[in-house]
Amino acid sequence: MTNDKNDYLLGVSETELERLRFQHNVWKNVTDDFFTRLNVGNGWKCLDVGAGPGFVAMDLRERVGENGEVTVLEPSKYYLDWFRNDSAKRGWANIKFIEGTAEVALLPSEYFDFIFVRWVIGFVPDAEKFLLNILRSLKPGGIIALQDYQYEGLSLSPNSGAFQHAANAVRGYWRAGGGDPYVASRIPIIFRQQEIKLIEYKPNCLAGGPKSTVMEWAHKFFSTHFQAMVDIGVITQTEGDAMLADWLAHRENPDTMFFSPLVVDIAGVKPE
Ligand SMILES: C[S@@+](CC[C@H](N)C(=O)[O-])C[C@H]1O[C@@H](n2cnc3c(N)ncnc32)[C@H](O)[C@@H]1O
Repeated sequence: MTNDKNDYLLGVSETELERLRFQHNVWKNVTDDFFTRLNVGNGWKCLDVGAGPGFVAMDLRERVGENGEVTVLEPSKYYLDWFRNDSAKRGWANIKFIEGTAEVALLPSEYFDFIFVRWVIGFVPDAEKFLLNILRSLKPGGIIALQDYQYEGLSLSPNSGAFQHAANAVRGYWRAGGGDPYVASRIPIIFRQQEIKLIEYKPNCLAGGPKSTVMEWAHKFFSTHFQAMVDIGVITQTEGDAMLADWLAHRENPDTMFFSPLVVDIAGVKPE
């Protein structure tokens, strides 16, 4: 771990940075399709909230071109510095960096054409406060888009062992960190209260066998986070060991099929 002051559930470290890179590649098509449907394009000013090391921001930059710009908002100095160095090496001039959290960051008023938030709002204790602050920086007519979990659907086939309790364990883990594993279903309610018009709501599930990248993605999580769940008291050591053993046995079984939890594309427009 780094000495980063960010204390969000999954932590900040070089290993986590590499996990985020892998995760980005596994889910990249899903995110790219979402951006394409929303027509994110040349010249747009974008805000990537909780950008991590900037893997989505890099893709956004490609879409908006030299005339557009991408601002990354991120509480981890470690991730921000990493992306700052990477952007400098590439000679990119249209990336801006803000260190802070979405709930309290000082952002320019009604400035952005597009605000994007992937796998962040599910970790925070007050999703409404989070959204209200960033919505102030969205232009009238601008789009806010999020991708996050409705933590259902996680499963392994054949489904007979301890892993069938894994979804519930992860939900407990998210809640123990102050987050909401069902945040995706709450966002349209907040949109309605804030008069944001919902224009997209699309659940996505990836599936694959033991050699698939989606199962490898899940392995990078479960191989360390079952123990983290034990360490914070969400599950017992016996339960954690049994879930991990079942997971590892499925990885050796060529007949296994893994289904990811639902990740929902959610987008809304701010009224003119
Ligand atoms: C799972 S990572 C996702 C990174 C990136 N959005 C992606 O999709 O690859 C969650 C990120 O949210 C950041 N984060 C946590 N709490 C936050 C908050 N309150 N406001 C903004 N970012 C936050 C973390 O530091 C971390 O970089």
